[in-house]
Amino acid sequence: MNTRQKQDAALLAALFSARGGLVSRAELARAAMLSAGDVDARLAPYIEAGYPVQFHPQGGISLQEPPDVWCAEEIMGRCPVLENSPLPAWNPLLLAETASTNDVAREQGRKGAPAGFLAASSRQTRGRGRLGRSWESPQNGGLYVSILLRPGLRSSETGQLTILSSVATVDAVEAAAGFRPQIKWPNDLVVNGRKLAGLLIETEPEGARLAFAVVGIGINVRQEADDFSPAVRDLATSLLLVTGQSFRRADLLVALLHAFSQRLERPFAEVREAWAASSLTLGQRVTLTTAQGRKHGQALGLDESGALLLRNDAGEVETVTEGDMREETSRDQ
Ligand code: BTN
Repeated sequence: MNTRQKQDAALLAALFSARGGLVSRAELARAAMLSAGDVDARLAPYIEAGYPVQFHPQGGISLQEPPDVWCAEEIMGRCPVLENSPLPAWNPLLLAETASTNDVAREQGRKGAPAGFLAASSRQTRGRGRLGRSWESPQNGGLYVSILLRPGLRSSETGQLTILSSVATVDAVEAAAGFRPQIKWPNDLVVNGRKLAGLLIETEPEGARLAFAVVGIGINVRQEADDFSPAVRDLATSLLLVTGQSFRRADLLVALLHAFSQRLERPFAEVREAWAASSLTLGQRVTLTTAQGRKHGQALGLDESGALLLRNDAGEVETVTEGDMREETSRDQ
């Protein structure tokens, strides 16, 4: 981030923290290390981009409720990371359209970009889901974001990141929209039996450890029922459908980055407890479709690596790292 971007980020952060209220030019100038006379000109491109900034005759400036616009400076300003912090400094690349944000983040990972790089796009033309599925990514319908992390985990501990990422996404939905979705193992977020969000975590190994991981998150935000294809219409939901409100994707992204920063600092045992509290299927009889075939049993919890523990019908406890889960009905037994 160059000096100008840092100043603009600080300017927007100061306006956002007073969202709806008045801030003086002097205060904005101090926050952004600018002279008060430069503030109006520096805000001009953001006004042009759709941020509703108002100049009041008494001298103050306010930011009214912004529409669904975003820019990297807003995200950086509202998600600062202290210097020398072990946490990633967020470095957003916001795109109008891309095939898959996971591909963009993976390419950056391969080029050696530090943890904290993230790619978000208003639309994906080839959004990918788990197990070779696609992820519907219509223009401005959802938040499509991929975060590059270098967690230093062993490859066998990738499940920890899966669990942490699901919990952070639940935290973010709660912070932005006021309710906690449930987690269907491994990392679908569901509300009233319908899928609100999905995560696709892709890793690149280096010896026994992860060189990096890309955490791809898709949250359905502003879709109406008809915006989903007939194939998923009865299975999916969005924040709009759940709450009746249209959320800004930037607010959700900011909540997501705060949640990641907080959860990344906590021991895995604590994250695992939060996961258990939000789990849809813990203790239930479930059917798992895995690459090795179908497994039935009771979902007992997670081990230290983040893998699922399943008590099968022979009474043995199996460790499962990948698959599709559903709760069993009497028909399955
Ligand atoms: C799933 O539920 O199967 C996972 C869906 C993951 C979708 C997100 S959207 C952002 C990122 N880019 C992709 O192509 N996929 C993930």
